Amino acid sequence: MKILVIHGPNLNLLGSRETTVYGEDTLSDINGRISALCRELGMEAEIFQSNSEGGIVDAIQQKTYDLLIINPAAYTHTSVAIRDAVAAVGRPAIEVHISNIYKREDFRHHSYISGVAVGQICGLGVDGYLLAVRAAHKLLTA
Ligand code: DQA
Repeated sequence: MKILVIHGPNLNLLGSRETTVYGEDTLSDINGRISALCRELGMEAEIFQSNSEGGIVDAIQQKTYDLLIINPAAYTHTSVAIRDAVAAVGRPAIEVHISNIYKREDFRHHSYISGVAVGQICGLGVDGYLLAVRAAHKLLTA
């Protein structure tokens, strides 16, 4: 069982970026927690961050994983290419957002990804990634 976790643009700045919205954990703190939980659940995790839409599409197309956990960040609201890549690979995807995108600016209320995802977790902070890992385990062992 292998999951691919993708963090989209500007998430490399977590820990210093708009900390009142995204909290103070760095991406490396978050990745450490994801990896530890995956180990505990007997799953392999590959974790990837990119600021580029094409880089994210290429990673999704690899198909070397059983399930995708993705925080597409700003591309959530703009990227038909990422949506199409998720739809094309035929792997279940869970969409994660640290903040509650529905309580923020109107342009964040629409996600191109949610229509091709199994589900979406948003507004629960960094714990959302860990909930997604637990959901992934359940989906892959059902
Ligand atoms: C985000 C929400 C997006 O609207 C924003 O562009 C991000 C992060 C989140 O995790 O809350 O960069 O995906």
